[in-house]
Amino acid sequence: MSLFRKKSLDELLGSSKRHALNRCLSSFDLTLLGIGAIIGTGIFVLTGVAAAQHAGPALVLSFVIAGLACVFAALCYAEFASTVPIAGSVYSYSYFTLGEVVAWLIGWDLILEYGLAVSAVGVGWSGYFQNLIAGFGIHLPAALTGAPGSAPGAVFNLPAFVMILLITWLLSRGIRESAKVNNIMVVIKVAVVLVFIAVGIWYVKPANWTPFMPFGFSGVMTGAATIFFAYLGFDAVATAAEEVKNPKKDLPVGIIASLTICTVLYIVVSGILTGIVPYNQLDVAAPVAFAMNFIGQNWFAGLISLGAICGMTTVLLVMLYGQIRLFFAMSRDGLIPSMFSKVHSTYKTPYSSTWITGLACACISALVPLGTLAHLVNIGTLAAFVLVSISVLILRKTHPNVSRAFRVPWVPLVPVLAVFFCGYLMISLPAITWKMFVVWLVIGVAVYALYGRTHSVMARREKGLPVHTEN
Ligand code: ALA
Repeated sequence: MSLFRKKSLDELLGSSKRHALNRCLSSFDLTLLGIGAIIGTGIFVLTGVAAAQHAGPALVLSFVIAGLACVFAALCYAEFASTVPIAGSVYSYSYFTLGEVVAWLIGWDLILEYGLAVSAVGVGWSGYFQNLIAGFGIHLPAALTGAPGSAPGAVFNLPAFVMILLITWLLSRGIRESAKVNNIMVVIKVAVVLVFIAVGIWYVKPANWTPFMPFGFSGVMTGAATIFFAYLGFDAVATAAEEVKNPKKDLPVGIIASLTICTVLYIVVSGILTGIVPYNQLDVAAPVAFAMNFIGQNWFAGLISLGAICGMTTVLLVMLYGQIRLFFAMSRDGLIPSMFSKVHSTYKTPYSSTWITGLACACISALVPLGTLAHLVNIGTLAAFVLVSISVLILRKTHPNVSRAFRVPWVPLVPVLAVFFCGYLMISLPAITWKMFVVWLVIGVAVYALYGRTHSVMARREKGLPVHTEN
């Protein structure tokens, strides 16, 4: 039973006081951090495939369904984040409600969301970047354009590698600096999305919306499971908990506001996109820019590429940040080595952890052809959403009177709907994704058995053994 040992509320909150990060973020910063993590590859790249191969013009419905799943889950995140504002997000919430081994597995699972997403988005960034410089007649040697096997002669994805290291450097310098860069880029990418809407709306031909569901409702669901990736990232806001000025109030605002803004933008953009271009012509790498070319607005197409590059840059920034803060929380609990929670005395960031994590993501992005692995990001995130929703129900039972600055409305309906929607999206993912997911979790169990079980701070305290922490 000791594998299911749980942290008490005091223990959880106490650890955040011992390892001080810099509390400087406002609810506005958090909202922009959320939008930073959300708008990126999903809308600028995946919409094309989702419309052409799965949903057709009903892509709008796919966005509504995936958006609903996220809104329900986001409400659950908001309640937890306002009750237990701790860097580890759902990992820490599970430590408190479901016990150590489940917490470990969900922390391990979240590496799929944050770490793998950084590597996958790095590849998307590199593609757009190479496109942009090709416009100026600059071409990289074939060997440096992608991971082995991704293109003829490709050996190493140099742009992805360099970009992720640049972001790593920025994150290592401090959260204030990182948030400033994020805010500027988010303003640019949202402006570009708004320009697309303002220009595109005049070229919509309603005839393009029929037939509305060429692949039936199952196509709409597969489309929703694919573009779910576009929503991913609002939960990374919760990992900032220990760097927020007033976390109990600001975290729910940041999570819910960023998701709501992006949901509205996505639904409008997907409606306009399929209204401009017949869905069967959207199977291209850069569908949003393509739509502008399609209506002869080449100048705007260039602007959209710039927005996409900014968009993916902030996704890289916030996802990498989320991964590092997750490792921070896991390390503080002794489940991974203590150097991951060592805070730099000047920058007030987990400095070594930032560089180790950034370098690992950069190497994976540069050397591994990611392809089907990207689906793993979705399944990993959906599993976390299911767990956070179940945890809210448990917390309401076990700690009915603990102070909650934000409460999920209509409990148990909303958490149950979150579990239902996310579960349904999970089963809409291909069997191969499930197999890889199970393999990943089995590796996680092995790592816990070999390391976490004996190094866990709680386990060592129980046995009266000394506990080594970096701070
Ligand atoms: N939501 C993020 C994106 O679409 C991960 O790139």
